[in-house]
Amino acid sequence: MKVFKTVKTIQDYIKLKKCRGSSIGFVPTMGYLHEGHLSLIRRAHKENDISVVSIFVNPTQFGPKEDYKKYPRDFKRDEKLSKQAGADLIFYPKVREIYPEGYRTYVDVKDITGTLCGASRPGHFTGVSTVVAKLFNTVQPDVAYFGQKDAQQAVVIKQMVRDINMDVKIKVMPIVREANGLAMSSRNRYLSAKERIDAPVLYESLKLARRLIKAGVQDVRSIRSQMSRIIRSKGSMRIEYISIVDKDNLKEIKRVKKDALIALAVKVGKTRLIDNIVIKGGI
Ligand code: PAF
Repeated sequence: MKVFKTVKTIQDYIKLKKCRGSSIGFVPTMGYLHEGHLSLIRRAHKENDISVVSIFVNPTQFGPKEDYKKYPRDFKRDEKLSKQAGADLIFYPKVREIYPEGYRTYVDVKDITGTLCGASRPGHFTGVSTVVAKLFNTVQPDVAYFGQKDAQQAVVIKQMVRDINMDVKIKVMPIVREANGLAMSSRNRYLSAKERIDAPVLYESLKLARRLIKAGVQDVRSIRSQMSRIIRSKGSMRIEYISIVDKDNLKEIKRVKKDALIALAVKVGKTRLIDNIVIKGGI
């Protein structure tokens, strides 16, 4: 497995491989890999000639009061795990490589970035789409793999790709959960022992929503209030949002009749966690 640290070296290497007919599968990450990332890398390895993983904690997607500085980083561990999962190349640039002195260009997807996570994280998705656009231009993937846990991110990336005619297929893979239902996230490592015990209530609330909808409840306000009640039953939770939206355009819906995304963000102690499920056809 090769590690590249500059745009030019990886771009040249990939250009050569593509000239020779190799297909490129790409998994962009911020490192501190967990089973969710590894499932994407394994898939990229299985479906493409060359699988590329990027490891870059992107400063432009963090707000001034967010956890950019303390975001977990462990390159040696990530290198080993990526290799075991079948990665052929790692792109591991420094911040100055991606945002050199005088950097001025940002990619801004409108409307769908102002709701859900975007409402409390202004500028977050501009940072995400900008870095993903830059990474796509660097790696030139045929297919890029994202996790469903960041449901809004996946919708935003698909929109960007469509809008500016990027020649890459986006595949969104299922959420990987711990045995207790907690969605895997690099941020889970911030949780205290007690918060770890409480955090699976997020998935419990999503499953409750699914049961209610299956039982015929369509009213979004009623579903949301029952979800909040069980989340609030754990002391350390502060709900940022519980939203039930159209899964493709993220518009709020009043009644659940067709495919819906139920998404939430909750502060568990000091840690902000997100989770979601998609309800197919209103059941
Ligand atoms: O999902 C992530 O880890 C990041 O948002 C991404 C897509 C790697 C961009 O920095």
